[in-house]
Amino acid sequence: MIDKDGVAADVVLAEIRAMRDGDRPTHGGQLFAYVYDPAVPGLDELAAAAHRESAHVNGLDPTAFPSLLAMENALVGAAARMLGGGPGTTAEDVVGSVTSGGTESLILAVKTARDAHPEIAAPRIVVPSTAHAAFAKAAHYLRVALDVVPVSPDTLRPDPAAMAAAIGPETVLVACSAPSYAHGVVDPVAPIAAAAAEAGVRCHVDACFGGWTLPYLRRLGAPVPAFDFAVPGVTSISVDLHKYAYAPKGVSVLLHRDATLRAPQYFAYADWPGYTMINPVIASTRSGGPIAAAYATLRHLGDDGYLRLATATRDAVAGLADAVRAVDGLRLMADPESTVVCFTATEGGPDLFVLVDELTARGWHTQPQLSYAGLPASVHLTVTASVAPRVAEFAPDLADAVAAARAAGPVALPPELMVLASSLTPDALTPELVAGIAGGLGLGAGNAPTPDRMAVVNTLLDAAPPALRERLLVEFVGLLQRPSW
Ligand SMILES: Cc1ncc(COP(=O)(O)O)c(C=O)c1O
Repeated sequence: MIDKDGVAADVVLAEIRAMRDGDRPTHGGQLFAYVYDPAVPGLDELAAAAHRESAHVNGLDPTAFPSLLAMENALVGAAARMLGGGPGTTAEDVVGSVTSGGTESLILAVKTARDAHPEIAAPRIVVPSTAHAAFAKAAHYLRVALDVVPVSPDTLRPDPAAMAAAIGPETVLVACSAPSYAHGVVDPVAPIAAAAAEAGVRCHVDACFGGWTLPYLRRLGAPVPAFDFAVPGVTSISVDLHKYAYAPKGVSVLLHRDATLRAPQYFAYADWPGYTMINPVIASTRSGGPIAAAYATLRHLGDDGYLRLATATRDAVAGLADAVRAVDGLRLMADPESTVVCFTATEGGPDLFVLVDELTARGWHTQPQLSYAGLPASVHLTVTASVAPRVAEFAPDLADAVAAARAAGPVALPPELMVLASSLTPDALTPELVAGIAGGLGLGAGNAPTPDRMAVVNTLLDAAPPALRERLLVEFVGLLQRPSW
């Protein structure tokens, strides 16, 4: 890797481009997860140029690089205005920080709530089962217990009364989503926040996914319920600029209703011989690149730009949902109310994991979701503005893929493997056993499954309980992450 004489710039770039050829397509409106593409000409170039300007600027010290502080404050101000805060609102004291992504924002929201109550020895948080997995990660990292409230299989939302009942004396935070990632539905924020306020507990709204689109969809006439700082009792909100604000990756905003609520978020340390350290977020050294790129993106697109992109996205969602409704054997998990289309198979419908592979073979990269706690396996589509011009092509391909999946039938894994998957406990899973399973599935060291042949892996995972799924995933990815010398 480290060549003795170094490698010429054009050769290195050619190497990277060759490696990128194996990736899923980040542009072109056919990848329904991981990427957020507005398909605005020139935007990538602008963001890259802005990133380059600030790539070596360090967010470690806002006094050394006031440019970064100014851009961060502008992003926080824009997010606050978008979400019901700012001068002249009922939440005019809103403050916030720029983080590296939704996960960091959620970890910090949990840490802030936890550290606001040092007297609670065993803190807990209450979340609906559809809350993003990053809450579980936060709970794990921060040693906070997670109280999970199930959602209704019909509405995919938690019952606010059940959320209220889950609040106890050790609860430091109640959280809900606007919308949830898996199904794209907005939780009943108002009654949940009211219950939290009545108990004297903070309430976080995870608007990482939809915080930048729901306000525009509402302006376009969609019946979006109140979910932001306009709702009494909401104490913090997260919104990812690297999702629907269409900024390159590495930027989210965590907002608090006021500076007092934010205070426990900060970490300062002066008890060592080096520089005195004050970190608002988890990272210490932080590149200015993503922040400058986000700043340029927001400034360039502007309010009208985002409204146009939301219009295109809304129309794409409607077109994709109609395509699903038109196919026998599929049903929408929920009528779309944001920018997600999520569907499952009806009784006698096609095998969803085979269908996902058939769609991949036709150029459509969707995201399978495993069955969980009474909710069936499903297929998730994150829809962005770039999908709009492709929608008409999706309907016939979906019908065709469903026919092919029906003809192929479900994946048949060796019965002993299925028995193993449903009966094995995670502790009994030795590295040898994993290597055997991986080998049986055609996965080897450094050998990722090909994206168009994932049904076997998904079928196996779907048969396993969540704890075993987690172990298998850890082991599989451990097999992939091997140094190349
Ligand atoms: C609702 C929600 N919260 C949090 C996250 C985590 O965001 P990130 O992947 O940027 O860490 C996501 C990501 O999809 C999300 O949809």
